[in-house]
Amino acid sequence: MKGLFITAEGPEGAGKTTIIHMLVKHLEKEGQKVIYTREPGGIKIAEQIRSVILNPDHTEMDGRTEALLYAAARRQHLVEKVLPAINEGYIVLCDRFLDSSLAYQGYARGLGIEEVLSVNQFAIENLMPTKTIYFDLEPEIGFNRIKKNLDREINRLDLEELDFHHKVREGYQLVIDREPERFVTINADQTIEQVYSETLHALESIISTHVTSTSL
Ligand code: TMP
Repeated sequence: MKGLFITAEGPEGAGKTTIIHMLVKHLEKEGQKVIYTREPGGIKIAEQIRSVILNPDHTEMDGRTEALLYAAARRQHLVEKVLPAINEGYIVLCDRFLDSSLAYQGYARGLGIEEVLSVNQFAIENLMPTKTIYFDLEPEIGFNRIKKNLDREINRLDLEELDFHHKVREGYQLVIDREPERFVTINADQTIEQVYSETLHALESIISTHVTSTSL
């Protein structure tokens, strides 16, 4: 039986990484076959591309170069890790995917959602997540959370002005409006327990709907 491909999206500081790790632990305890992975990264080559993209010293990086590097990391991660796991029946919970490129590079950087989508089509060959959980949060709140979390790496995109992050949120909204049935939106401006409980509820409903009908 084939597995499921579910992605998590949202701005910086929305807590999605913490929540996904909690979900994975919960599903593992229930005996489900599940893996956590992330973009950019998740495998050796893509983690190396990640360190090039996100290095705070690489201020000269051109926007299109950035978009292409994300797409390259995505391609390798998909063929090396995500697809084999899905084919082995795993539920793959992936921290960011294509929608991040559309919101950050396509809209916030101004490269164009359509242009970034077409570059990414080459990388993903139409393989889209079955569902995407979007953690919605005001950029100001996310930023305050990041500043308080001293263990978190500060990456090159964190250094963008607040205005850029407002555009990211607008970009996500445009992406969701294009394909609303793929998204489940979670209000991330709540306690971690509340966000976790809502997300778990959403995820359980996705799994029960799709694992029985084997959508991929
Ligand atoms: P992370 O902090 O969630 O690990 O993500 C790394 C950063 O990369 C974050 O600022 C969002 C950004 N990003 C893009 O701009 N485009 C993409 O396609 C992806 C996957 C991430």
